Amino acid sequence: MKILNMGNKRLASEYAAIEIIKQVTEHPQTTLGLATGDTMLEVYPDLIDLINLNQTDLSEVHTFNLDEYVGLGEGDKDSYHTYMHENLFNHNSSWGKEHIHVPNGKAEDISREIKDYEAQLEAEGPVDIQLLGIGENGHIGFNEPGASFESKTRVVDLTESTINANKVHFERTEDMPTQAISMGLGSIMSAKRIILLAFGDKKANAIQQLIEGKVSEELPASILHQHDNVEILVDDTIYQQLDWSKSQG
Ligand code: GLP
Repeated sequence: MKILNMGNKRLASEYAAIEIIKQVTEHPQTTLGLATGDTMLEVYPDLIDLINLNQTDLSEVHTFNLDEYVGLGEGDKDSYHTYMHENLFNHNSSWGKEHIHVPNGKAEDISREIKDYEAQLEAEGPVDIQLLGIGENGHIGFNEPGASFESKTRVVDLTESTINANKVHFERTEDMPTQAISMGLGSIMSAKRIILLAFGDKKANAIQQLIEGKVSEELPASILHQHDNVEILVDDTIYQQLDWSKSQG
């Protein structure tokens, strides 16, 4: 696992976007693992610029998003489906619509939706580059502390910490769902390469715990120590707070 101080969100976002454009240019049949949240808000505009500048054909690119709130989906302002379309997919017409996968939180049969999602991921994977953010409690996707390292796509209960962190994005905070569909830790680990981005004071504690090196289901992101191609991109705000004397390597 490499920790890189990128100085700021700007450079980290550009780096992530450049790695993705390189991948899809070299391998048109790429499968991308995509994430949402504030962390990714500068990655996607950079990626759109690079796609447009290079007139990249995305028709054979497959994408899988990490998660979606139960009860939300297409047409809902606060859904990750809407986030992804507004921030990325609507900005280029060459995305093959049938290759874009965001879990459907409004599916009538959620257990079927989960099974199908994991099956599609297995069929169209492995993911070549997986983007990740991290929760203040160390979650990745919506895999909250205690999630099994073997977990696959499923419905999860959100913790109070996550509800508090994310409800600010909802016009009426009481509308924030308490459950989500999330790709599992096992599913995330099958990606060939993982780029995790983290910015700002609020994420410093999670990154500190991560560098301490203890692999435990209490810190879901710690599973990444078991992956051999992970980059953790942080800003200087986080980097300056890290206590390397507690690091195991
Ligand atoms: C959210 C999402 C994660 C995201 C993380 C960080 O709850 N489910 O996929 O990476 O938590 O969010 P943010 O980037 O808004 O801080």
